[in-house]
Amino acid sequence: MNKNKIPVAILGATGSVGQKFIELLSDHPWFEIAELAASDKSAGKKYSEAANWIMSSSLKEKYKNMTVQKCEPILNSKVVFSALDSSVAGEIETEFANKGYYVISNARNHRFDKDVPLMVPEINPNHLNLIRQQNYKGAIITNPNCSTIGLVLALKPLYDNFGLDAVNVVTLQAISGAGYPGLASLDIYDNVIPYISGEEDKLESEPLKILGSLNENSIDNAAIKISAQCNRVAVIDGHTECVQVKLKTKASIQEIIEAWQNYKSIPQQLNLPTAPEHPIVYFYEEKYPQPKLHRNIEKGMAVAIGRLREDPLFDFKFVIHSHNTVRGAAGGTILIAELMKSQGYMDNL
Ligand SMILES: NC(=O)c1ccc[n+]([C@@H]2O[C@H](COP(=O)([O-])OP(=O)(O)OC[C@H]3O[C@@H](n4cnc5c(N)ncnc54)[C@H](OP(=O)(O)O)[C@@H]3O)[C@@H](O)[C@H]2O)c1
Repeated sequence: MNKNKIPVAILGATGSVGQKFIELLSDHPWFEIAELAASDKSAGKKYSEAANWIMSSSLKEKYKNMTVQKCEPILNSKVVFSALDSSVAGEIETEFANKGYYVISNARNHRFDKDVPLMVPEINPNHLNLIRQQNYKGAIITNPNCSTIGLVLALKPLYDNFGLDAVNVVTLQAISGAGYPGLASLDIYDNVIPYISGEEDKLESEPLKILGSLNENSIDNAAIKISAQCNRVAVIDGHTECVQVKLKTKASIQEIIEAWQNYKSIPQQLNLPTAPEHPIVYFYEEKYPQPKLHRNIEKGMAVAIGRLREDPLFDFKFVIHSHNTVRGAAGGTILIAELMKSQGYMDNL
């Protein structure tokens, strides 16, 4: 172990998001993976035997022979990234936080706890203060749903500059969003499935907390009406979303594009290792954005936007694309941890 780095553990290390954590953290300048944990079925096995590695980079030797641990709060690392299935995440994360661990989670379970921040570091870095209200010895911090993150990054500059009245969004979500092994190939190949359990509720509610304002001990939700329809499509990685917006004040197409292109925030100012230089990249080409071409822009940490045009029902419409397991999960969570470290939350670990 490198003594200059903070040791971290990954809960749910064998799954789709867990593997992305391993890939993204393997050369991280501040954090080093010290422990990998998963279900009882995997615990006790070597990681290379417990996980079916599906990342495009090779699994590094240093992880192959790590023994997978149980998800019990007896791990040595005090910073814990959770990529646990939501059927078990709530209880396990609470146990870890009670025992003094900082749990930064991708699961939905704690996102709406009153004292738990739902974080996108560019948008609401000040919401981190909420953890001072928590009664845990440690803390729980959450990352939003993978479709929410792309959407709120696109909405934030509009909300700040022109105000937002209403949003309509239709998603085309990748297969990897359903975890591993996920959907049966016969269900998704040659198909579109117009239902993803719980997803529309998340897209209609999470942006309101993220764009909300921090009071002394809670968040006042943003007053925006959002309607969402979610579809699973036969794309491996990267969620596309067709968005319509009604603004509070008038704006021109050029003003909106400039608001997106100029958008930078605290992670960029702090030069955090995982922060994209440009969180939003606008494409003028009519056929863009596309998953195949744009899922990895800014190493998968930016949202690609295109096709901004006037809308006869709302004011404007456009298309966004973002990587669901990078910006929408592991990468977004690592960025939260970097923000926490840069703000002194990890000084006493
Ligand atoms: N995939 C995405 O794009 C995405 C994006 C944002 C958020 N998320 C959220 O992130 C979390 C992980 O998603 P995923 O797609 O990586 O799911 P996944 O591929 O199904 O992986 C789930 C992980 O949870 C572990 N697990 C299951 N039951 C457990 C138990 N009883 N005790 C301990 N560990 C257990 C599994 O370990 P075993 O292998 O040992 O069973 C596996 O490591 C979910 O909450 C999901 O909603 C996913």
